[in-house]
Amino acid sequence: MEKRVAIIGAGMSGLLACKYILQKGFDPIVFEATESVGGLWNHTIESTKLQNAKETYQFSDFPWPSSVEEVFPSHTQVLEYLESYAQHFGIIPYIKFNSRVMSIDYVGEPFGEMKSWDLWGGTGKPFGSRGKWHISVQDSKCCSTEVHQVEFVVLCIGRFSGVPNIPEFPPNQGPEVFSGKVIHSMDYSSMDNASAAELIRRKRIAIVGSQKSALDIAAECAKTNGVEYPCTMIQRTPHWFLPSGTFWGVSIGFLYFNRFSELLVHKPGETFLLKFLATILSPLRWGISKFAESYLRWKLPLKKYGVIPKSSFLQDFSSCQLGMLPENFYDQVEKGSIILKKSQSFSFCKEGLLLNREHRPLKTDLVILATGYKGDQKLKSMFKSQVYQKYISGSPNSMIPLYRQIVHPRIPQLAVIGYAEGLSNLFGSEVRSQWLAHFLDGNVALPSIKEMEKEVNVWENSMKQYAGRYLRRSCIGSINIWYNDQLCKDMGCQHKRKKGIFAEYFQPYGPTDYAGLTSKRVIKTN
Ligand SMILES: Cc1cc2nc3c(=O)[nH]c(=O)nc-3n(C[C@H](O)[C@H](O)[C@H](O)COP(=O)(O)OP(=O)(O)OC[C@H]3O[C@@H](n4cnc5c(N)ncnc54)[C@H](O)[C@@H]3O)c2cc1C
Ligand SMILES: NC(=O)c1ccc[n+]([C@@H]2O[C@H](COP(=O)([O-])OP(=O)(O)OC[C@H]3O[C@@H](n4cnc5c(N)ncnc54)[C@H](OP(=O)(O)O)[C@@H]3O)[C@@H](O)[C@H]2O)c1
Repeated sequence: MEKRVAIIGAGMSGLLACKYILQKGFDPIVFEATESVGGLWNHTIESTKLQNAKETYQFSDFPWPSSVEEVFPSHTQVLEYLESYAQHFGIIPYIKFNSRVMSIDYVGEPFGEMKSWDLWGGTGKPFGSRGKWHISVQDSKCCSTEVHQVEFVVLCIGRFSGVPNIPEFPPNQGPEVFSGKVIHSMDYSSMDNASAAELIRRKRIAIVGSQKSALDIAAECAKTNGVEYPCTMIQRTPHWFLPSGTFWGVSIGFLYFNRFSELLVHKPGETFLLKFLATILSPLRWGISKFAESYLRWKLPLKKYGVIPKSSFLQDFSSCQLGMLPENFYDQVEKGSIILKKSQSFSFCKEGLLLNREHRPLKTDLVILATGYKGDQKLKSMFKSQVYQKYISGSPNSMIPLYRQIVHPRIPQLAVIGYAEGLSNLFGSEVRSQWLAHFLDGNVALPSIKEMEKEVNVWENSMKQYAGRYLRRSCIGSINIWYNDQLCKDMGCQHKRKKGIFAEYFQPYGPTDYAGLTSKRVIKTN
């Protein structure tokens, strides 16, 4: 059987998947809808920076260049870093740019037979069955469509791009009745800097959302318009945001990114001893969360503006709801350039927005919906088969049901990289790409379909405890090391990767700890 592999998307995840698959001697083809690599980093707002300190958003074997001195590099520096990775590892020749995948369809195995399989793809192997994926690819320049056939597909289409989450409204309460303009943060991000500045200049702006996009856009509006035209940020659920990565001098890495910190939380499939430890250490878990919260309440005027989150710091950390505060954000709030309002619901009227508990409308010229993305629907829409659409979606309030956050137990010859979130997403996509490369090379054995489904449920039930209603984000924030341990064990690699017991338990884990999980092979260069 041929072993053709297609990767869809050349953002950070697609580049990683390609690099590791190449190292195993495959000859992949990467379909990228746009004309460049780097995905969403090509279209961010002017002020966007990396939220992580750069050493935690770094390829394990390709450090940031010494010319980047900033701790939090700008979006341009991130894009250049991704581009130079693609050049360095000879990935560019494998990418077909301007090639949008319209759909993928699994052909060649009767569905009735597939339903009776005990093992993934019938054999438990990546290339075990007779089926092939038919990939319809549209050339975005001439609009012609070609169908490619491959034995394996890797979906790296991005979780936070492409399909915006637009709230729905009853008739006559939506944007259609509003006399101003409504855009999503995605549209604002895709504008060039001059047009974006022009759009917001001297406008009364309302921004809906309380997450990172909303905060960043509010900060940009404040910078452009000052107190003369203050923008209003409408928050449904305030979350914990950090002005820096330390709490009274203690780095967040020591509180949440080491093996000791993971002893304090319950983990999927934990042994009796680990469960016991997490239970008796729960006061310490609570104490660390309160320590972080006390620092933020002391440092920021959250009480004054009524935006103390209801969730604990640990809950926000575990559900990837934590972010970095834009510089001087609360100075702008204090000055009056940003007005914070809490509202559980909103609707439109001619003059602006109607917020709950307020009788008068909020008069507005421009509404920016920083309401996030529908990454799950984007994933679903790739599949032609309704059965696979249903499989990949799972139930609406569950996690996307992926074993090891990579393969669906009932969708053969296909992997997803870049859906599950972590506090540093490059790191997550890299370890998964290494696992995938081992798997394609025949070095990872999958359990039966039933066992994989059981494992997915165990993870879901465990992650529910901390992630609550954000479960769908598949955030592995507080159990990142435990999760990587499972992948390392599958790959037959040492999962404890530090030198010495003290370092193992107390030093923060990061990308370079997972360098070299796959062996090297000679690959094509430009
Ligand atoms: C503004 C912003 C800032 C962020 N900052 C951080 C951060 O600081 N730290 C962090 O850890 N995470 C951050 N994230 C999360 C972010 O999603 C990841 O860090 C990461 O860059 C995502 O890479 P990706 O390759 O998975 O997805 P994307 O960058 O979205 O790339 C997906 C690629 O797939 C292509 N594609 C999609 N559909 C198709 C198709 N049908 N056919 C062909 N090609 C297709 C797209 O064109 C794109 O190039 C941020 C997210 C956003 C929105
Ligand atoms: N590096 C950077 O500087 C940077 C910049 C931007 C984004 N990002 C990253 O990109 C990802 C996406 O961030 P995002 O802010 O665009 O999206 P997001 O994290 O999904 O947040 C969406 C926000 O919209 C709110 N919302 C959704 N539907 C709503 C409705 N019907 N009514 C009112 N509020 C509604 C949500 O509130 P609820 O919580 O109540 O649902 C939430 O506050 C995140 O990982 C983020 O960290 C990073």
